[in-house]
Amino acid sequence: MKELMQSLREASIKAINESDNPESIEALRVKYLGKKGELTAILRQMGKLTPEERPVMGQLANQLRAEIEEAIELRKTILSKAILEKQLEAETVDVTLPGEAQPIGHKHPMYNVLDQIKDIFIGMGFEIVDGPEVELADYNFTKLNIDEGHPSRDWTDTFYFTEDGRILLRTQTSPMQVHAMETKSLPIRMIAPGRVYRKDEVDATHSPMFHQIEGMVIDKGVTMADLKATLNLVVEKIYGDHFPFTEPSCELDIQCHKCGGKGCPTCKGEGWIEVLGAGMVHPKVLSGCGIDPDVYSGWAFGMGLERLAMGEYKITDLRLIFENDVRFLEQF
Ligand code: PHE
Repeated sequence: MKELMQSLREASIKAINESDNPESIEALRVKYLGKKGELTAILRQMGKLTPEERPVMGQLANQLRAEIEEAIELRKTILSKAILEKQLEAETVDVTLPGEAQPIGHKHPMYNVLDQIKDIFIGMGFEIVDGPEVELADYNFTKLNIDEGHPSRDWTDTFYFTEDGRILLRTQTSPMQVHAMETKSLPIRMIAPGRVYRKDEVDATHSPMFHQIEGMVIDKGVTMADLKATLNLVVEKIYGDHFPFTEPSCELDIQCHKCGGKGCPTCKGEGWIEVLGAGMVHPKVLSGCGIDPDVYSGWAFGMGLERLAMGEYKITDLRLIFENDVRFLEQF
């Protein structure tokens, strides 16, 4: 029996060391150590041994089993290393090949302009605030002194959500004036950029969704001169009392960058493009928000971001700003 075990030892170790793939090693494990394997076959003959011999042979058999198992594990490790090496060799990367250029996006031209404007106002101590695009008519109109008959309230101009006309898509960022006055402590210096919506036909300077930046200062002794100085812009055209919530009001137009003022499709023949409305906050609006107009005064403006970007980058059609054609965006 000892001899049988010795020859099994030699044969099995040799076969294991010669096997060259994980499957054949598994097959050898079954062949030698399995229930119907060769070691088991030898152990079946234990019955023929004397009681003294049995434990000795049992110990030898256990030792042989351990040796075969060890040989199997060792061979497996060697084989998997070899397989990995082969794979690494087959999959080598040629680092000298030229790489594939990854296109990297960049900021949209309109947001470049917004960032410039934010920087200017932050530098002057203004706070940047954000507010709802779905708004109450109360905030979009009533609290801004825009009465029931005002044309901007018309169903043909404004996107209403409810038939009672209570909820709408804000048509301007001016409701942010009211939110600020109702919630912030005085004095207030804020700008509020955001989307606004109007039932406008799309053309070179109109879109049903566009961006405005509201700006407002409420403090003691604020004057129209401060507004002009702060904006550091030249008010090109004064239209008189244009907005019900400011008194007096003004509008800033830029000379058409396409035609230089002669009149063309971009400026619809006017030679000028309106970029902002502004004025002194109406005393009624202040007192409606609980601010004493005898102590405090304020100015506010609302500028159209797309049109400012058009001026900055000499863009002749507002639609280009929304179309997001990469050939257009790449130029900025
Ligand atoms: N809200 C006005 C508009 O949309 C602009 C404006 C803002 C005018 C603030 C005066 C003061 O046209």
